[in-house]
Amino acid sequence: MTETIAYISRDTDGLHWKKVLEAALGPIDFRTLDTIGNTDAIEIALAWKPPRGLLASFRNLKLIVSLGMGVDHLLADDTLPAGVPIVRIMDDGLIGQMSEYAIYWALRHHRDIDKYAELQRARQWKPLDFVDTLHRRVGVMGLGSIGQDTARKFAMLGFPTAGWSRTKKDLAGIETFNGGDGLAEFLARSDILVDVLPLTRDTQGLLDATAFAQLPKGAYFINMARGGHVVDEALLAALDSGHLAGAALDVFNQEPLPADHPFWTHPKVQVTPHIAGATNPRTASPGIIENIKRLRAGQPLINTVDPRTGY
Ligand code: OXD
Repeated sequence: MTETIAYISRDTDGLHWKKVLEAALGPIDFRTLDTIGNTDAIEIALAWKPPRGLLASFRNLKLIVSLGMGVDHLLADDTLPAGVPIVRIMDDGLIGQMSEYAIYWALRHHRDIDKYAELQRARQWKPLDFVDTLHRRVGVMGLGSIGQDTARKFAMLGFPTAGWSRTKKDLAGIETFNGGDGLAEFLARSDILVDVLPLTRDTQGLLDATAFAQLPKGAYFINMARGGHVVDEALLAALDSGHLAGAALDVFNQEPLPADHPFWTHPKVQVTPHIAGATNPRTASPGIIENIKRLRAGQPLINTVDPRTGY
């Protein structure tokens, strides 16, 4: 069986995807945005931030595969063909990178590395007071596969770790909070807040002035989820007032981050260009291959997305 698969992304030329998929599935009619040809032939779309309306123009589309674990880039398209199943990658490589990213910034803050770098520049030998790991409470917002992995690794390092999710979750060794009622209490005990929530109607703008004020004074914020959760002015005000110690931001309301955005030069903000977790064909392809096999066999798909919840 030879499927026609369109790789819809400007991030890479897609040839590595063609290689891993063909190794498992045999020859594929593999198209990219530049070689798409007759769109009626496209049966499967591997998509990352597709142009609005493009997927709707594939009249024989049988499956949409999100090349990100987040699917807001697909659901933002109001012309998305209803009834075509959407699945997302479940990528252990990406999940591992995300927790590395959070742990890196958390430890850098926790161990005062930036302050020591300043002291080094001034040639000063000056041990600073330290905070016991047991007194640095980490809060992970979002307890899907990324959040669970991140929370588990923080707990293994000895940080008292809690997680917040929309619906109740029970995780060994992690204190859990849920829903609107649990949010203030969760924030109030999070000295380091890590955001891995999906972007949905409910989470858009969730981190506003009220939410930042609920964090303990001196808290540090790591956003590796979506910029849309954050009201930028509220975050800047919380940093400027000294309520927050700093922020590591990988995602933004507008990407690329506009050149004149204050985050670029803010002394308490570290900016990275949405690299916390890169989709890795080696680790992401097994789930895609499994879904294509299931599609061929008419079996239920895995890693499906519910457009109503947005994940
Ligand atoms: C994703 C991302 O959704 O990288 O996977 O943002």
